Amino acid sequence: MSEIRIRKAAIEDAEMLAELSYQTFWDAFHEHPKNAPEDLADYMEKAFSLEQTRRELLEENSIFLIAEIEDRAAGYAKVTLGNIEDGISAENPIELNRLYSHQKFLGKGVGAALMDECFEIAKENACDVMWLGVWEFNPRAQAFYKKYGFYEVGKHIFQLGSDPQIDILIQKDLD
Ligand SMILES: CC(C)(COP(=O)(O)OP(=O)(O)OC[C@H]1O[C@@H](n2cnc3c(N)ncnc32)[C@H](O)[C@@H]1OP(=O)(O)O)[C@@H](O)C(=O)NCCC(=O)NCCS
Repeated sequence: MSEIRIRKAAIEDAEMLAELSYQTFWDAFHEHPKNAPEDLADYMEKAFSLEQTRRELLEENSIFLIAEIEDRAAGYAKVTLGNIEDGISAENPIELNRLYSHQKFLGKGVGAALMDECFEIAKENACDVMWLGVWEFNPRAQAFYKKYGFYEVGKHIFQLGSDPQIDILIQKDLD
């Protein structure tokens, strides 16, 4: 297996990142019977448009990480410093907004490499808690985060088109 390189994304990555975000979300969720195609399409059109991706890349407290294998995008993550929600206990939180491996590389260490770099960013910024929302019907991701020591602290609504889905809120206390 070739080396996995992690780098911070820049505004020049917007087009690639929009495509990668769209593709990885589609691959992860389009087959699930709970997801109505029109809700998925509605959400994805807005969330992963080029304009929205550009906006998020320019957000002051957000960082996108790109995983590359042989110079090709193999996954990405997004974190936001300072974000918090009801249910999360933290002084200096960091939200893990997104973590996606390309379908071709699932189970090949891309998620772990991205996660390690997210923890590194948390450490550089003296964050005491990392947290995120994970869909109640996404057991693979839930198991992945559990392995890293995240634990459940609540629930929130994630609006997928017209469908108010339930995300489990989890947090990990950092050293
Ligand atoms: C969750 C996700 C990012 C994990 O990334 P990945 O590249 O498949 O994971 P890795 O190959 O780096 O695995 C890292 C570790 O987690 C373990 N792991 C991965 N999937 C697992 C699972 N379903 N259950 C338990 N452990 C798991 C691996 O065995 C590995 O452990 P090891 O280092 O001891 O061997 C990936 O499954 C994904 O992109 N899923 C679709 C999108 C998604 O659901 N994202 C999360 C949204 S909240």
